[in-house]
Amino acid sequence: MAIQPDKAAMLERIRRDILKNQICPELAAGATNLVMGEGSVDADIMFIGEAPGKNEDLQGRPFVGAAGKFLDEMLRGVNLRRQDVYITNIVKYRPPDNRDPLPEEKLAFWPYLLRQLAVIRPKVVVTLGRHSLEHFLPGRQISAVHGQPKRLKIIFPGGNQPSGLVILPLYHPAAALYNGSMRLTLMDDFARLPEVINQDSSNSN
Ligand code: URA
Repeated sequence: MAIQPDKAAMLERIRRDILKNQICPELAAGATNLVMGEGSVDADIMFIGEAPGKNEDLQGRPFVGAAGKFLDEMLRGVNLRRQDVYITNIVKYRPPDNRDPLPEEKLAFWPYLLRQLAVIRPKVVVTLGRHSLEHFLPGRQISAVHGQPKRLKIIFPGGNQPSGLVILPLYHPAAALYNGSMRLTLMDDFARLPEVINQDSSNSN
């Protein structure tokens, strides 16, 4: 029987493929680091943001700036630590001047994000902001669906059977940071995370 490579090795393979396939060379040329993601490879929850900002680019780690501090604070509020979850972005190089990622950049990185998902197999994907949401639930407005878990079927690369996945769309912590009402909404939505995970476990029994 073939030996399965471990999850860390499979994630490393994805990183190497991004480099080998020269994904978004213009972004790569202006970036300090390729920011793949971090956390537990066995996480039940995967957070997916947009793209690295300045601090993330410099450190090579996702969500380490002001938005990341807010994310850490909300994680603590539901008794989770960064090392209990997996955190990544759709686009893995910092766009210049922190502009929004372009549709073609998101599309170019999408297959690699699906491969990360296929390795980690979280129960719940938390999309942070509209860029991440629109790939999982095309056409949905974040203002209409935030905080509402949605069940999806997805075929992972290399698979032939659709797998069930729960998406929890949240506002982006950077957008909510300095907007009082959005901040409260995000914190309320975030507090639902344990309930969403437990619901998913009971449904799959
Ligand atoms: N915003 C994001 O979407 N991702 C990061 O990693 C940091 C800020």
